[in-house]
Amino acid sequence: MVNMETLVSLCKRRGIIFQSSEIYGGINGFWDFGPIGVEIKRRIKDSWWKRIVQEREDVVGVDTSIIAHPRTWVASGHVSSFSDPMVDCKECKRRFRADDMPPPKKDSKEGACPECGGELTQAREFNLMFQTHVGATADSASLAYLRPETCQSIFTQFRNVQTVSRKKVPFGIAQIGKAFRNEITPRNFIFRSREFEQMEMEFFCHKDEASKWHEYWVSERYDWFKSVGVKGDKLRIRPHESNELAHYALACSDVEYEMPFGWSEMEGIANRTDYDLKKHMEVSGKDMMYFDDARKEKYLPYVIETSVGVDRTALAVLCDAYREEEVKGEKRVVMGFDPSIAPVQVSVLPLSNKLKEQARKVEKDLKGNFFSEYDEAGSIGKRYRRHDEIGTPFCVTYDFDSENDHAVTVRDRDTMEQERIPLDNLIKYLTDKFQK
Ligand code: GAP
Repeated sequence: MVNMETLVSLCKRRGIIFQSSEIYGGINGFWDFGPIGVEIKRRIKDSWWKRIVQEREDVVGVDTSIIAHPRTWVASGHVSSFSDPMVDCKECKRRFRADDMPPPKKDSKEGACPECGGELTQAREFNLMFQTHVGATADSASLAYLRPETCQSIFTQFRNVQTVSRKKVPFGIAQIGKAFRNEITPRNFIFRSREFEQMEMEFFCHKDEASKWHEYWVSERYDWFKSVGVKGDKLRIRPHESNELAHYALACSDVEYEMPFGWSEMEGIANRTDYDLKKHMEVSGKDMMYFDDARKEKYLPYVIETSVGVDRTALAVLCDAYREEEVKGEKRVVMGFDPSIAPVQVSVLPLSNKLKEQARKVEKDLKGNFFSEYDEAGSIGKRYRRHDEIGTPFCVTYDFDSENDHAVTVRDRDTMEQERIPLDNLIKYLTDKFQK
């Protein structure tokens, strides 16, 4: 299993993930995705969107604003209770989550600051929402919040979306977008950060069918993780005990992945009942009820929510893909991404500077079919190493013989085998390989 330090350093070296604002010393809990990382994230989001929205008739998408009317967060319960208990050290001023204290360092006693042994304050509730002000005045009337989850605007827009999409219950509304939480202890690289992306889908159904849909979505979401190449032996479904359920949930199951730091939540699939629609109806005074023609019944639908982090999925995909091998006495690092997630699917490499133009043309011809890249920087060995580390499934080398035999050498990332393929068969050859 990959060690986190090794992964963080590979991510920096290969332009997958950088520390945010690195030149100023970084800012805790924030990360920047580089040219390779952004492609991995994009593949994950595209795969989710395709499967949840584009390939289904019963789910539509939205893209709502990050800042919503502040009463949204009163109705959802976030203003009153989206908090973690925290304690501060009176000496070193460090802050900790009271329910998740790190182990004490050598000389520090139980109940004292785990870092310096100093006296701790009493536990206080700390609201995790980031605050801001809308408009020129900074008073309580202009107070607003950066959304801590993307789903609330799906609830507040339920009637609008249902009317214009002409969907009948059961149907879902999906969204991908940024969420912000002022986590007390962001940690484990991008696993728990203060700014992250969520992919959420709220599936509205009749109360009597909620358990059936919950079961359906748990299994559907588990299958999606496998479809992006995450290995089954590192994935599990964990139903919540009744004492860990969120206040709005009747039932919840997490999809967990075995990270280097232990089994960890990737996604929650929850039966949220009619809690959210009811609360928004109460606080806004607007009717959120739905009239069901088939049942001749007016009701507030129940909601099955699927909620997954893009960044956490990316971390699972990265951990899962990492492997080290020994080749001729040297260490080879390979990211064995599934081709659907690979940031670069095919790279075309000229063997010599004299062959640049011909290689460029080959790459141009591949572009419409694959995520391809033209790469001329460094020796061929160095280029292969880079492509192993960013998980490029195939490298195509244009050499001096290509001029005469109109063929190229295709190197397979996993087997390192090389095959000579005629140029006019290259697209078909690669397409067949990807379909296997
Ligand atoms: N709408 C329900 C909701 O937001 P959650 O369990 O708080 O539920 C859902 O979050 C998912 O969002 C998590 O399973 C995780 O993948 C991601 N997530 C939550 N907090 C995160 C954080 N601080 N950093 C990265 N991802 C996070």
